[in-house]
Amino acid sequence: MPLVTSRAILEASLEAFRAGRPFAVGAYNVNNMEQMQGIMRAAKETNSPVIVQVSRGALKYAEDKYLRNIIMAGVELNPEVPIAVHLDHGNNLEAVKRAIDLGFTSVMIDGSLLEDGKTPSDFAYNVRVTSEVVKYAHDRGVSVEGELGTLGGIEDGVGSGKAHLTDPDQAVEFVERTGVDALAISIGTSHGAFKFKGEPKISFEVIKRCRELLPNTALVSHGSSSVPAELIEEINRYGGKLEHAKGVPIEVLQQAIAYGINKINVDTDIRLAATAATRKFLAEHPEKFDQRDYAGAAREAIAREIAARMRAFGTAGRAPEVKPLGLEEMKARYARG
Ligand code: G3H
Ligand code: 13P
Ligand code: ZN
Repeated sequence: MPLVTSRAILEASLEAFRAGRPFAVGAYNVNNMEQMQGIMRAAKETNSPVIVQVSRGALKYAEDKYLRNIIMAGVELNPEVPIAVHLDHGNNLEAVKRAIDLGFTSVMIDGSLLEDGKTPSDFAYNVRVTSEVVKYAHDRGVSVEGELGTLGGIEDGVGSGKAHLTDPDQAVEFVERTGVDALAISIGTSHGAFKFKGEPKISFEVIKRCRELLPNTALVSHGSSSVPAELIEEINRYGGKLEHAKGVPIEVLQQAIAYGINKINVDTDIRLAATAATRKFLAEHPEKFDQRDYAGAAREAIAREIAARMRAFGTAGRAPEVKPLGLEEMKARYARG
């Protein structure tokens, strides 16, 4: 299957929820070749649809064209994988235009925060910037994810530091006024490896209510890495120092999927898998210095970790359920209204 819009994959997820066989698609962050290869290997092995997403930080690190070409190589080499390429946490229309010019089929505009990616905005601002993006993106067939409510935690400038759960009634007004395809809701998660001080607390009520009130809108959970204890132990065993790291347990994510979450964002777990494998490899092979050896070990660890997520989120085996809705098909559909 060629490159599809995220809407194509999320519609399959919404349909599966209605049919009582829910799955969520993982959206995995990509910054370099090994991450892209690891993700594609997992998607192919498990026959899963996938969303690969790119942050502004990733575009800065890898440079737009390097990253674009690495991702598009993954698309081209895996025609059997339904894949959408998505901008993560776009902060303004300029960022969205840049991503669409690069060939992305999906964008997020995070209007819950101001352009600095830190300061919480107000509802009117969020509606205004999101509507502007929806108009621009839908004219080109590109899917749009908005965000309402703010996540706690700060990671490289994404996140306000203060959590503010989504109000489901306000979510209905937001979707009606902006026309977004997907909505990121704040349910108690946060970005990064330190999500909870005590026990993980997620508001299933917010998910349930949003699902009831918005039956045709895909719901997105950001900050959803599980931060597996075994990866933290491995990192620390081989010289790392990550104390009190904690994520969202897999069973909690499965419960969130059962209540209607359609897209689950994972970045931190990829970082942890790569770091653990690299540290282990270098500690066990002090004589080695070929970057391909330790980057290769990291790539394998990423593929393993993501294949496990695909199985846990119910995405494995669901590639055939995705309709080939690319930019042209969606452009025509949005034009019909
Ligand atoms: O939402 C944040 C993602 O984990 C991206 O992080 O801005 O460090 O690439 P980044
Ligand atoms: P994690 O930091 O939990 O991986 O969340 C990633 C994310 O939400 C990207 O948008
Ligand atoms: Zn996020």
